[in-house]
Amino acid sequence: MLINTSEYLKSVVKVVDYPNTNMPQFLLMGRSNVGKSSFINALANRKKLAYTSSKPGKTQTLNFYLMNNNFMFVDAPGYGYAKTAKETRVDFGGLLENYLNSDVNCKGVFLIIDIRHEPSEDDLLVFEFLKQYNINLYIVATKVDKIGKSFIQRQTNLIKKCFGMDLSDKIYVFSAETKFKIEEIENLIKQSI
Ligand code: GTP
Ligand code: MG
Repeated sequence: MLINTSEYLKSVVKVVDYPNTNMPQFLLMGRSNVGKSSFINALANRKKLAYTSSKPGKTQTLNFYLMNNNFMFVDAPGYGYAKTAKETRVDFGGLLENYLNSDVNCKGVFLIIDIRHEPSEDDLLVFEFLKQYNINLYIVATKVDKIGKSFIQRQTNLIKKCFGMDLSDKIYVFSAETKFKIEEIENLIKQSI
């Protein structure tokens, strides 16, 4: 286990409101309902630290969480959920752009994908968008508990192909439910901070 203490800090839209710190941080990105908040909860070993819901489109702000008093997770709103009322829909691009252009000490972005499906158009757009930045981008294929072990390689290869990655490139396979391969992600974080 990597994380011993965890704490919700704040929910923020504007850069001026970000926590005033140079602490290393990791941004969680992905479609609505893919499991971003569950990823944080699994790593923190807490059930309800980050707000999860079976209703997509709940998270509308950047939510900062302090882990072990030495790094942060930043939970971003999910994209691709059309039913959020137009008036309340977040300016997703703006929120992301502001974050990436700010001087936060971002050590990496976890782009979370559902291992059962091909990346969506939005996933591909976000992937291309993130590649323009000088940032470590990690693809996490989650909900692996929902497929048989024999399908893991087929699905990860498919996801790599869709993203135009090489088959030798690394994708992190994960389950928030069973904590499958959580050590790989913990090691990645440990080595990055
Ligand atoms: P938004 O904040 O709406 O963008 O969603 P999110 O990406 O934060 O997803 P969240 O963590 O709230 O999870 C959505 C649903 O998927 C919840 O019902 C979770 O219990 C479920 N879920 C998340 N990760 C896993 C997983 O690894 N396995 C299984 N079986 N279910 C998962
Ligand atoms: Mg969430």
